[in-house]
Amino acid sequence: MSFFLHPTINRRELLTGSASVAAALLTRPAHAVANTTNEFSLTAAPGRAPIVGEPHPATDVWCFGNRVPGPEIRVRQGERLRVVVANRLPEDTTVHWHGVRLPNAMDGVPGLTQPPIKPSDQFVYEFTPPDAGTFWYHPHADSLQQLGRGMAGALIVEEPEPVPVDRDILWMLSDWRLTAGAQIASGFGNAMEAAMSGRVGNTVTVNGAVSEEVPVRAGERMRLRLVNCALARIMALRFEGHRPMVVAIDGQPCEPHEPKGGRLLLGPAMRLDVMLDMQGDPGRRYRVIDDFYEDLSYWLTQLAYDEGPPFRAHPLAAPLALPPNPLPEPDLATAERHELTLQGGMMGGGAMMGMGGMMGMGHGASWAINGTSMTGDGHAGMPPLLTLQRGRSYVLTMRNATAWWHPMHLHGYSFRVLSRNGLPIPHRQWADTVLVPPKETVEIAFVADNPGDWMLHCHVTDHQVSGMMTVLRVA
Ligand code: C2O
Ligand code: CU
Repeated sequence: MSFFLHPTINRRELLTGSASVAAALLTRPAHAVANTTNEFSLTAAPGRAPIVGEPHPATDVWCFGNRVPGPEIRVRQGERLRVVVANRLPEDTTVHWHGVRLPNAMDGVPGLTQPPIKPSDQFVYEFTPPDAGTFWYHPHADSLQQLGRGMAGALIVEEPEPVPVDRDILWMLSDWRLTAGAQIASGFGNAMEAAMSGRVGNTVTVNGAVSEEVPVRAGERMRLRLVNCALARIMALRFEGHRPMVVAIDGQPCEPHEPKGGRLLLGPAMRLDVMLDMQGDPGRRYRVIDDFYEDLSYWLTQLAYDEGPPFRAHPLAAPLALPPNPLPEPDLATAERHELTLQGGMMGGGAMMGMGGMMGMGHGASWAINGTSMTGDGHAGMPPLLTLQRGRSYVLTMRNATAWWHPMHLHGYSFRVLSRNGLPIPHRQWADTVLVPPKETVEIAFVADNPGDWMLHCHVTDHQVSGMMTVLRVA
C-alpha cells in the first residue's frame, strides 16, 4: 500500500516525510511558477497506525489519508493549491491551514468562516500560499479529539529556487496519551487538566511512530523542519554534539542563529526550520533530548551515523539564509495599540485565578481574554473583540496574567514579535504562534491587510476550547 498522496493534476513527487527518504533538492530542476494548480484529495477517517511498534498492537486513530501524520502536501511558492477534503468521520470536521495567509473563507473555522463539513460530505479548499515555508494543517472542529487522535499533516511551500542542502527532512512531533494496550486514553476535555497544562501525553512520536534512531551521514547538511503537533506538550529539543542553526520560525525566514542555550523551544503548533551540519563521528549515535519539563526529560530519537567516511570533508559552504517572503512591514510609528490580557486557569496553589469577576464566561470556561471566554472550536456569530481597519498597522500587547504557558496563534497572518517584557527581540522575527510564559508580556505587530474574521487563540487545545480564544475582525 502506498502512503504517498498523489495530486490528480500535475503529478509530482511527494515525500512521505520519513527520515529515510532523501529529497535531492540540489539536483531538482527549477520549474516555471505559472498557472499551475496542484490538486490533492484528503480523506478524514478512522484508521489504525503502528504508533508504538512491535510487540504493541496498532493504535486506533483518526487521520487524514489513512496515515499518521497525514500526507505531506508540497507546492511551490506562487502555485495554486486545491484540496478536496472528504469527511468519513462520525462527526463534523474542517481543515485549518495553520500559518498560511489565505482568504478568510479558506481558513477552516466552523461557523465563522465556513459551514462544518458534515459526515460523508466534502469541502474544497483552494488558495495560493503567498509565503514559502513549513506550515501544517489540522481540523478546527472537535479539536481536542480530532487533533488528539492523530489528525495533522504538513503543508510545505517550497522556495522558487531550492536552497542548497543535501536532505530536506520533516519531523512531525506528536504527543499521545496511550494506555498499556497502546490505545488512545479517553478523558479528552478533563476540566481540571484544562485549567492547568492541558492534555500532555506519555508518548512522543516522530512522523507518527516512536523513533529509536534516524540514519544520517557524516558531512551532510540537513534542513530539518520541526512541527509541534501536540495538543498541549511544549518541547525544548537539544541535539547532543550538534549545533542546529535556526533559519525559519513558523515558516518565516529569520536571520540564521543558534537558539538560546542550544535548546529549540517549540510550543504547540510552532515550527522551526533548522540547518544541521552532520559533524559527528561515523558509526556514533547522538541523542535528541527534550528537556522542557523539569525532571521529565526524555530522548526523542538518536542521530545514527553511518559507518562510512564523511560525505564531504568540510561543511557545505553554501549560505544558510532563506530568501525572504513578501510580508508587509508594520509601521510602528503610526500603529494603533491594543492590549490583550490572558486570564484564568489554576494558580500554583490550586485555586482558580480571578475568574469570579469575569464577564461572559461560557459553560465550562476556565480561561478568558480581556474578561471574555469564547469556548469551543469556532461557531457562527462570534463577536469580534476588536475591529481593525484594513491596511493599518497594529501592535498587540499580550499580557499573560496566568500561571501557565500559552502559545498564542493568530489566524491569517504572520506578525513580527517585537518585544518580551519590554526588551526588544533580536531580529524581530516573524511568527504566527508566539509562546507567552507565565506572567510575561509579548508585543507583536502586523499590517491588517487580510480582511475577515480571524481567530486569535491559545494553541494548547484545552485552553482554546475552554475560553482562551477571541476573534479579530479586519473590516
Ligand atoms: Cu492551528 Cu486555530 O489553529
Ligand atoms: Cu494556553
